[in-house]
Amino acid sequence: MVYDMIGDMVSEIKKLKMEKEAVVLAHNYQIGAVQDLADFVGDSLGLSYEARKTDKKMIVFCGVDFMAETAKIINPDKIVLLPNKYAQCPMAAMIDANSLTLFKKEHPDAAVVSYVNTTAEVKALSDVCCTSANAIKIVKEIPQEEVIFVPDVNLALYVQRFVKNKKIYPWPGYCYTHKGIKPDVIKELRNGYPDAPVVVHPECTPELIDIADKVSSTEGMIKYCRENDSHTFIIATETGMIHRLKKEIPDKDFIEIPNAICAAQKHVRLEDLYRSLVEEIYEVKIPDEIIDKARIPIDRMLEIGRGE
Ligand code: 13P
Ligand code: SF4
Repeated sequence: MVYDMIGDMVSEIKKLKMEKEAVVLAHNYQIGAVQDLADFVGDSLGLSYEARKTDKKMIVFCGVDFMAETAKIINPDKIVLLPNKYAQCPMAAMIDANSLTLFKKEHPDAAVVSYVNTTAEVKALSDVCCTSANAIKIVKEIPQEEVIFVPDVNLALYVQRFVKNKKIYPWPGYCYTHKGIKPDVIKELRNGYPDAPVVVHPECTPELIDIADKVSSTEGMIKYCRENDSHTFIIATETGMIHRLKKEIPDKDFIEIPNAICAAQKHVRLEDLYRSLVEEIYEVKIPDEIIDKARIPIDRMLEIGRGE
């Protein structure tokens, strides 16, 4: 007898989602098999809106720690699960509440804009959150002329290009996956695909931004590739993005960056999603007082909306 273990697991996951009244949210960098089982796939901002909208009892967040925490802050009364406890974004761990408190003392008049890639404790000390999809809009719209921007220095420098009348103080954090994409690799790919626009995530270095045809969040990449007349695109972000692009725009070609892989996002396998639903693990727990404070900058961000 031949067993279809993957097929069985897929059917079990679908059944469990119904039984447990769970919604599965997946980030664009998740493996294809997980994306295909999710109710919604998107960027950090889109998934925050889905988390706010859902009437399900349980949210299973196939992504990384800060994304599941954000869903919990938005939904303190729901069960929020992160299927693999090692799915932790290293950039979000590059600033903690103590360091931010000291940084704020150095710039007492500055507003704190924290990238959603931060811990709940850091959000609790912030004025407003942002994602790569609305960082420019948010920094432009807040009244303060000085801005502490944590933790991604590359996103902060990108925003500063568009907001000349404000002073941004960046924290020196970074995403190793995006920092690792070097201009030389892009130049080589361009030799093979001379007509392909280069689409770059704003967590990449300024050198990469300088040679991009388009800079955008992961969701913005889909819109751009759909609307642009070109047939082939070089996608300078985590390789999970290619699955989503191919699925949404099957008649075009997408060239990935070799080794642009985020280990944290790849921790969530089909087995983890299955086990998460069966055992209701790993439940995101955040103290009430942190939730109350962190909710304010997240709500402000959601009210301001998408900038691209
Ligand atoms: P997006 O919000 O653009 O999906 O990016 C999230 C992220 O972690 C990028 O590294
Ligand atoms: Fe964090 Fe970078 Fe992975 Fe995004 S790609 S989750 S910023 S390490």
